[in-house]
Amino acid sequence: MKFPEEFLWGTATSAFQIEMGKGEVDPNSDWYVWVHDEDNIRNGLVSGDLPEEGPGFWELYPEDLRRAKEELGNNAFRMSIEWSRIFPNPTWDIPVKVSFDSYGSVCHVEVSEESMRLLERRAYQPSVQRYREILTECRRLGLTVLLTLYHWPLPLWIHDPIACRDDIVHATKRGWVDQSTIIEFAKYAAFIAKTFGDLVDIYATINEPMVVSGMGYLYKESGFPPGLSNIDLFIKVSENLAIAHGIAYEQIKRWDHVSSSKYGPAYVGIVHCPQYYEPYDKSSRDDVEAASFVEYIQNEWFLNMILKGDFDLNINRIIDLEEQRPYLAKGCDFIGINYYMRNRIKAAESKIPGFPGFEIVPCTENCTDMGWEIYPQGLRYELNWAYKLYRRPLMVTENGIADAKDEKRSDFLLSHIREIYKAITEDGVPVKGYFHWSLIDNFEWARGFKMRFGLYRVDYETKERTPTKAVQVYKQIATAESSST
Ligand code: BGC
Repeated sequence: MKFPEEFLWGTATSAFQIEMGKGEVDPNSDWYVWVHDEDNIRNGLVSGDLPEEGPGFWELYPEDLRRAKEELGNNAFRMSIEWSRIFPNPTWDIPVKVSFDSYGSVCHVEVSEESMRLLERRAYQPSVQRYREILTECRRLGLTVLLTLYHWPLPLWIHDPIACRDDIVHATKRGWVDQSTIIEFAKYAAFIAKTFGDLVDIYATINEPMVVSGMGYLYKESGFPPGLSNIDLFIKVSENLAIAHGIAYEQIKRWDHVSSSKYGPAYVGIVHCPQYYEPYDKSSRDDVEAASFVEYIQNEWFLNMILKGDFDLNINRIIDLEEQRPYLAKGCDFIGINYYMRNRIKAAESKIPGFPGFEIVPCTENCTDMGWEIYPQGLRYELNWAYKLYRRPLMVTENGIADAKDEKRSDFLLSHIREIYKAITEDGVPVKGYFHWSLIDNFEWARGFKMRFGLYRVDYETKERTPTKAVQVYKQIATAESSST
């Protein structure tokens, strides 16, 4: 396989999952409070593992980045910045000019130079400093950074997940349920672009918005904050995230004018997670319909909002006049695809009022430790699908396997990269990079440390990293001769 010369080979990480364990703990996010909550632990919603026992990237980043560069032969790295580390205290009072559309939705936010100065004064300097050091080290090593602004934790002053879980009606800090979060996100995005723009060119605004809204607001047993099942909130949160993407896109373009690579100054996309869905029984009309519905809502619905301005808020697949809001589709320079699995869908009785019923048939063969079915061909399919529908360059921003025994990772890696290669060379899909999830073992959200996604095993006691077999495989691929076309 000869990949294009400029192809980005990297690993993907997120702040909350790898940072804590050494150095300053960040207790100021909803996820931190959520996984410490005794009721959540007692009810088995979360594992009881705590992020402050994590891999400690906050201190150990120099050695981890060195591994990425030298041992994996990578030329890129995906990481996120933790909003609550930058703004542990509220930014509500910093003034910005906000415009609303005729439906009352935020449609434009303007951060003035004066407000930027206030944001700069409000930001927690030790965190700003540390992120600059991490990004500078990436640069020094020749790792092009793909920076995610929001990979799930929200500052506590924006979202109190326990109050929302217990009584969303009377809760005051309701995260993405309220549009005020879009406005604060705009300030944060502007600040990040201004502060780190000299070191970063490729940005992802939001990681997997459909996981935030789906796990948080549809499947209360998912273990994701705030643990509700309410279709109206699910729709509202998805809509607000879609608007937030566009608003953040504008801020980054406005505030980052400095190029640090050929992508510069600001190449801004989203990270989405279309999986491969298939009816369990292809001859059953109900299963076919259920699979088609899940595919629509999971894969397509959100991208239609941010790329076409089609806000199908009643989810009937018809875009009524009031659902056409092209001015909210501000832009998306690339689409990040996180691909993990095939899901077989069976029609079932609905557990969520107002939502068609379906269930995911449990994996029985080729399963990962997460219980996800390995299906590399699905990646080629999704890349083709996304390009055909939206005509944007793509990046595989995540793809990986929980495999504690280190038996399947090498094959997994190779077979998925082969599918990307076919998508590029046989199908003509412009895929610009591959980021394996993940560099090191990390805190797998509600499931804790048991799930081992790392190319490097982490001993959580000693913080020692040990390579898995796939490290050599990935290095060979990433450093292989490339094609010049
Ligand atoms: C997320 C990661 C997560 C991974 C494995 C993705 O959905 O972006 O944060 O660890 O999948 O579950």
